[in-house]
Amino acid sequence: MKIGVIGAGTMGAGIATSCLAVGDEVVLVDQSDEQAAVALAGIENSLGRLAKKNDAIDVANSMSKLAQGSDLAATIGCELVIEAIPELLEAKQNIFSALDDLHGPDVLLGTNTSSLSIDQIASRASNPDRVIGMHFFNPVPVSALVEVVVGSRTGDAAVDTAVAFAERLDKSPIVVKDSPGFASSRLGLILGLEAIRMVEAGVASPADIDAAMELGYRHPMGPLRLTDLVGLDVRLNIAHHLAKELGDRFAPPQLLVDMVADAKLGKKVGVGFYEW
Ligand code: CAA
Ligand code: NAD
Repeated sequence: MKIGVIGAGTMGAGIATSCLAVGDEVVLVDQSDEQAAVALAGIENSLGRLAKKNDAIDVANSMSKLAQGSDLAATIGCELVIEAIPELLEAKQNIFSALDDLHGPDVLLGTNTSSLSIDQIASRASNPDRVIGMHFFNPVPVSALVEVVVGSRTGDAAVDTAVAFAERLDKSPIVVKDSPGFASSRLGLILGLEAIRMVEAGVASPADIDAAMELGYRHPMGPLRLTDLVGLDVRLNIAHHLAKELGDRFAPPQLLVDMVADAKLGKKVGVGFYEW
């Protein structure tokens, strides 16, 4: 298959890696050439890690199937386009309106949104039946889940195609109704926000709060290290949206707001609750 991926950040690079690993062609579009270059190096590194345990992956061959672009028109000819730009409704609406104009009605348009409404993202598209949430998890190449989020106007054919595509990537899809934060972010974020409030209150150090969840609850990674992995800016955007939709329990702690203002965004910039 030929897949378009819009946004070459943490998630776009991960989605591209998983597609390349099963032999797909990928067109990766980002507005920033600098970010695209970072993504290309990350994808090559990630494919190398996958190739160590899967003889079917040839890194050079996979990289030869990756094209880079700075314009959405570069995705013309793709059978599926997955958007992974920041969690901002208007920016996503603009992308889906443009993709809808560029692509025939048979091309599936997926959004990797963590929390936003699929109906609203599709609101300016003339074919909203082919717009669907395809929520991948970080790090995509080793994460088993894809949350398929079904808007009120998403068609059955789009659901079937998205589920089959996730399975083709060797991932397990779950199908979820379009509602704020879906089945995953609504639960995952609340733990992360509470851990940040505990740091603010001086309950324990980030490392000790994380150890509580890693050793006591056997989470693979504590909520603060996970916030660094996800990106503090990403979590802040999700928190703003869920606070608006679901109430003050999702209101972002001041520490999170301050750290984002100080550009302490986590792993992707080298500093967050930890140094990376
Ligand atoms: N590409 C390819 N392979 C990767 C990889 C990547 N980006 N990252 C990790 N791996 C592989 C490693 O090569 C390693 O493989 P082997 O076991 O074959 O050696 C394996 O995955 C484990 O990695 P590490 O040994 O480096 O480290 P680890 O055992 O501590 O695992 C982790 C790291 C996979 C990140 C694990 O801690 C984990 O799963 N953490 C939880 C992640 C999580 O909760 N993600 C959800 C975030 S929320 C979200 O995504 C939704 C949202 O909308 C915000
Ligand atoms: P990111 O900030 O790492 O990357 C976003 C990329 O999009 C950047 O490279 C940026 O240059 C590019 N971009 C911005 N506007 C663009 C436009 N109009 N056209 C083309 N490129 C554009 O973000 P991310 O962490 O990869 O998150 C992307 C989406 O995935 C968000 O909706 C987020 O909520 C969701 N998500 C994130 C995670 C995570 O763990 N980080 C997990 C699952 C879902």
